[in-house]
Amino acid sequence: MPTKTEQLKKIKDEVLALEESPLYAYRTENKYFPVIGEGSHDAKIMFVGEAPGRNEAQSGRPFFGAAGKVLDELLAHVGIERKDVYITNIVKDRPQQNRDPLPEEIKIYGPFLDRQIDIIQPKVIATLGRYSMDYIMRKFNLNAELQPISKAHGKLFDAEASYGPIKIAVLYHPAVAIYDNKKIPEMKKDFEILKGLDK
Ligand code: URA
Repeated sequence: MPTKTEQLKKIKDEVLALEESPLYAYRTENKYFPVIGEGSHDAKIMFVGEAPGRNEAQSGRPFFGAAGKVLDELLAHVGIERKDVYITNIVKDRPQQNRDPLPEEIKIYGPFLDRQIDIIQPKVIATLGRYSMDYIMRKFNLNAELQPISKAHGKLFDAEASYGPIKIAVLYHPAVAIYDNKKIPEMKKDFEILKGLDK
């Protein structure tokens, strides 16, 4: 059985060679990197964002720009360290002009996220933003519980993963605070549902 690190490396190699992706040419023309994910391979909590922005595509690291600073502030608020969690996105390559991910992009990259979940086997998946909420809740048969993120944020849902019980934590995307700084207190309160779940 290959180790978790070997299995995750295989995902990286496959995404690097994913010429059939609609974002492949944009990545290579700009000398961008795909952003696979980073953090503990034994993380109890996995954060799932939408797609890399420019800073992320230039560095190959998730949440490495302005939204990443907000994420760090939210994590610090609940005493969770980046190194103890795993952070990834649904879409592994940067969409042009940071536009929202398209259905065909979610379709091509989603299976890589599914594999990352099965490899890392987190106890909690924290969704960042509505695309991630939508993808993860549907994946775990929570369609009936789907609500607009303005209603669902800050809630925890119980679900069943292939490897056992799992909780889904619905959170606003950190970039929300870049456009509306007044949202920070509410976002911090939402993050409190994660308190202690990283251990
Ligand atoms: N926004 C995301 O959804 N993911 C990142 O990695 C950075 C910004």
